Amino acid sequence: MGTSGMRTIMMMLLLLLILLLCTITVGIQNEICLVGSENFECAQKSPKILIKGGTVVNADHQQIADVYIEDGKIQIVAPDIKEMEGVRVIDATGKFVMPGGIDPHTHMEMPFMGEESCDDFFSGQEAALSGGTTMHIDFALPHNGDLAEGFRLWVQKAEKSCMDYGFHMAVTKWNDKVAQDMEWLVKEKGINSFKFFMAYKGSLMVSDEELLQGFKKCKELGAVPQVHAENGDAVAEGQARIFGLGITGPEGHPLSRPPVLEGEATGRAIKLAKFVNTPLYVVHVMSIDALDEVSRARHSGQRVIGEPVVSGLALNDSKLWDPDFRTAAMYVMSPPIRAVGHSQALQDALSTGILQLVGTDHCPFNSKQKALGKHDFRKIPNGVNGVEERMHIVWDVMVNSGKISVTDYVRITSTACAKIFNIYPQKGAVLPGSDADVIVLNPNAETKISAKTHHSRIDTNIYEGWGKVEVTISQGRVVWENEQLTVERGSGRYIPMKPFGYLFDGLDKVDATYMSSMQAPVNRNF
Ligand code: URP
Ligand code: ZN
Ligand code: ZN
Repeated sequence: MGTSGMRTIMMMLLLLLILLLCTITVGIQNEICLVGSENFECAQKSPKILIKGGTVVNADHQQIADVYIEDGKIQIVAPDIKEMEGVRVIDATGKFVMPGGIDPHTHMEMPFMGEESCDDFFSGQEAALSGGTTMHIDFALPHNGDLAEGFRLWVQKAEKSCMDYGFHMAVTKWNDKVAQDMEWLVKEKGINSFKFFMAYKGSLMVSDEELLQGFKKCKELGAVPQVHAENGDAVAEGQARIFGLGITGPEGHPLSRPPVLEGEATGRAIKLAKFVNTPLYVVHVMSIDALDEVSRARHSGQRVIGEPVVSGLALNDSKLWDPDFRTAAMYVMSPPIRAVGHSQALQDALSTGILQLVGTDHCPFNSKQKALGKHDFRKIPNGVNGVEERMHIVWDVMVNSGKISVTDYVRITSTACAKIFNIYPQKGAVLPGSDADVIVLNPNAETKISAKTHHSRIDTNIYEGWGKVEVTISQGRVVWENEQLTVERGSGRYIPMKPFGYLFDGLDKVDATYMSSMQAPVNRNF
């Protein structure tokens, strides 16, 4: 054999060797996947997951079925799906398989009252995922009144995200630029809701005139107007009055902004929304006074959404009188957590559909930040935790107590939010084609909630002792299991939300009826 023949044989042998090495490497990789190690999902770009034997719960239906997940989407929901090689199996026998929670109300790294809420988009989302919430909608604030700048800032803040999120945008003043920016945000940036603060005089508060302009613009754009409903002028008056009486501690907070001020602002916002014929979303309904306004409006056919938050549903104001400042200050938020009786009324309203969905208003400030108001309750940064605890507490307060069904639980923690903000059934459902944001909830489990073990950066916790979510799957990956988090910084996705959701259906007909009912202008002969 000549030299060239030898060279060809050597080349062929080398090629064979390379081929062999490649096969072994792929084999080893497959082995890692098939072994089903704890980090199975990390080793794969697009894990394949089969959740077996659980009760799959949607807002309108529940059935025993398996759920097959691939490519970040739910592919199949059906009984007895065959186990296949390379597919990770999660046994959910005796447990509920549900859409991941959607928290409609959070404030990550929010600059407020001279401080910044202490969870950023990463730590806050770690907290959320470990509690079974797979999407949240955060309130972006304008930067010096500029909405476009505020949006860009929030986009930057959210770069570190590890789960899906969307934004509401606040409107804190009114001019042509604000109107233009609202249009840009809706048409090009995936925002379909705007929040107006009727409180926080001197910082975020808007006047009735600004509220009206904002409502009109929202209606034109098909975006949902939201209100923080407290009479800010009267709150300022109440704060001066209570402080003047020598009441400087955290108990001064609820005393200075009683339920009547929340009821007044809620009623005012509802009436202005009726005048404009726009839907309205009232955030953090905390009192019977506000609830009565929402109830009356809904009873009359007006499209008003009422959102209680977990603190209002589960707690009362007694801790604000705690002799220990650190303890009492933990509970300072606005509108305040109310006296015994209000939370029960809110629970009842939620169970009968007068209120529609549950948020958290997660806006945590740690003890050092809260201590800024040690000698003046008006300086205690307002806000409490909740994004990690919401799913557990709502289960405990609403399902365990027998007030609602498991399907209703899914509705108020996930589906209603997805529908209101026009992202259903991408979110809020366990259906083929939906995003694979899924939780496994064990009704018999007790996971400890405690400041010592929670994932939020806050050093206190107003909820100690609840817990039920065993597995969280976000974007098709298991991120929470065996009380361990496996998340990737930067893997979160911004979920754009389209305008003109169902709340806007038929409003044009109501407008047309109104116009034709006027019998005006009257032609008069002068
Ligand atoms: O106390 C609260 N609620 N802090 C966050 C800001 C707000 O009003 O939602
Ligand atoms: Zn608010
Ligand atoms: Zn809030």
